[in-house]
Amino acid sequence: MENYILLENQKKYCGQMIASSVILSLIFFLVLFPSHNSYARVTGPCSNCHTMHNSQEGDSVEGFMAFEDDGTANRTLLATTCVGCHTGENTADSTTPYVMGLSKPDFGKDGNTLAGGNFWWVAQGGSINDKKGHNVAGITISDNNLNSAPGQTEGFSRSCRLCHSSLEDGCKNCHRIPKHHANDGTGTKLVNTAEQGWYRFLSGHMGGIGRGVEGIEHEKWNYKADEKSHNEYLGKKQHGEYGFDGGGNTTTAFCTGCHGQFIHQQSDAGQWIRHPSDAVICDPDNPDSENSEYATAFGGVYDPDVPVARPSLDGWTTSSNIVTPGEDMVMCLSCHVAHGSPYPDMLRWDYDLMIAGTTNPAVQGTGCFKCHTEKDGED
Ligand code: HEC
Ligand code: HEC
Ligand code: HEC
Ligand code: HEC
Ligand code: HEC
Ligand code: HEC
Ligand code: HEC
Repeated sequence: MENYILLENQKKYCGQMIASSVILSLIFFLVLFPSHNSYARVTGPCSNCHTMHNSQEGDSVEGFMAFEDDGTANRTLLATTCVGCHTGENTADSTTPYVMGLSKPDFGKDGNTLAGGNFWWVAQGGSINDKKGHNVAGITISDNNLNSAPGQTEGFSRSCRLCHSSLEDGCKNCHRIPKHHANDGTGTKLVNTAEQGWYRFLSGHMGGIGRGVEGIEHEKWNYKADEKSHNEYLGKKQHGEYGFDGGGNTTTAFCTGCHGQFIHQQSDAGQWIRHPSDAVICDPDNPDSENSEYATAFGGVYDPDVPVARPSLDGWTTSSNIVTPGEDMVMCLSCHVAHGSPYPDMLRWDYDLMIAGTTNPAVQGTGCFKCHTEKDGED
């Protein structure tokens, strides 16, 4: 019960987070899940995660419960919340993906964060930190700068906006239909159906039938990912349609369920008026793009810190270390992470260091310069 109150109360949460979360992770995972497994579904005794009568040693445990009417487990039958289980420090042996750190995480592929980054920075509060992640209920819902989703999808009624312009429902605002018991295979593999829970439980309406994200899931959620071993994202070359109908089963379609204008309004009369997403890098159909600086994007080598989207994942059995100009695409997640980062606007890099003509060797060829290969200085 105390944990639940802590999660509700930001100050108390920060102060006592270590105690509560260490207890949680130790009791739940170190003691009870001692062995490493590579199954892409939960394992272990039911009692680790479920409570049968919402009662422990005579006390009601309802205070812990976070699951709501999402059609899966009744909320009073789970022993803790999304945040409760998903708070901790990632290591090579972790069998739970941690999205909220116990102490300041080390961001990126060489650090200890996962693909979505980490909510730790946004949880520190204040108007600068508020920009470093999605302010989501269960972590920190108040945002000093934004009270709804920027670029929110046009034409949605008030009832739609309850979910589509706020994150007051918590993690479930994005992971709408979690399927922790779905067997989606072992190792790094393609996930593209509702039965598998889609890619990372990212789905839309209608029970997620046909409406979810397709992708290749790295077995360690991109922990220490490298050019060969990483998640793969689907893209769909398109000009302005939001949601899964227009954007296909892509992460960009998913993001634009809430930030629809950022794709809907991205081009006008053949000109980009917002940075394009799901645009082909070195587009053979675009005379300005072909044979331009984009032809040498990434030096042809994939970088999990600046991911690109692929035109198709059909038949893929694992990830690829190659970026192919003329086919692969820039997407929302090329520049942003989904949860949080140390940088404002949830960017993957420090935008203040992206200086045209820079000769700083630590910055050349990174971030924006991965694709805009001629905008940094000579080396
Ligand atoms: C590591 C944690 C964990 C363990 C161990 C676990 N569960 Fe679950 N279970 C969950 C979570 C989280 C959900 C919430 C909804 C979802 O993702 O499906 C859930 C949902 C369920 C559901 C409803 C959804 C469905 O897939 O049918 C049933 C039934 C269920 N669990 C039964 C069991 C039984 C029986 C055991 C022991 C054999 C067990 N669980 C062990 C975490 C666990
Ligand atoms: C009782 C503990 C527990 C609870 C509660 C729980 N999770 Fe999980 N979750 C796990 C474990 C363990 C895994 C790793 C399963 C595996 O091996 O893929 C996991 C995996 C995931 C994944 C990654 C799935 C994938 O495809 O790799 C997502 C996303 C996720 N959980 C979201 C949620 C959300 C959202 C909630 C709340 C609605 C939640 N979890 C509640 C224990 C939990
Ligand atoms: C369910 C709705 C929803 C979805 C889906 C969604 N967002 Fe957001 N997003 C919001 C809301 C609400 C805010 C404003 C409050 C905040 O900062 O959390 C926001 C803010 C942002 C911000 C600005 C952060 C800041 O505080 O300055 C970025 C960047 C962003 N989202 C990117 C993304 C990306 C990338 C995706 C896809 C992975 C995505 N969003 C998916 C609702 C959503
Ligand atoms: C704005 C939408 C959004 C919200 C809110 C959100 N997630 Fe995620 N989450 C995503 C996306 C998108 C991914 C896939 C990231 C990738 O592969 O690049 C993801 C991935 C994950 C994973 C797999 C590990 C990783 O980093 O890839 C877990 C576990 C997870 N989320 C849990 C949670 C929990 C717990 C919460 C609530 C505290 C939450 N998410 C809130 C969009 C969201
Ligand atoms: C209970 C919460 C909830 C409500 C209410 C809700 N949605 Fe959604 N919707 C979601 C979630 C979660 C997603 C997946 C994230 C995303 O893409 O925005 C989604 C996805 C979408 C998408 C993009 C994916 C797709 O299926 O094409 C559209 C469009 C959409 N919703 C329209 C609407 C409209 C219109 C309404 C009001 C009639 C509405 N939604 C009400 C939760 C909700
Ligand atoms: C090429 C890199 C890049 C791509 C691709 C990109 N963004 Fe951004 N985004 C940025 C940068 C940089 C900012 C910081 C503010 C600015 O310069 O506009 C930002 C800011 C934002 C904000 C905050 C706006 C505000 O008013 O505070 C949101 C929300 C956002 N992006 C969502 C998205 C979504 C959704 C997509 C995909 C449709 C996307 N971005 C694609 C680089 C990108
Ligand atoms: C993953 C690749 C990628 C990354 C990273 C990237 N861009 Fe782009 N950018 C593109 C593509 C592709 C286009 C569209 C090219 C075309 O016209 O076909 C584009 C277009 C642009 C344009 C408009 C150019 C025009 O011809 O209209 C600007 C300005 C721009 N990007 C700035 C940035 C900045 C600033 C960053 C870093 C925040 C960034 N980009 C990061 C791929 C990328």
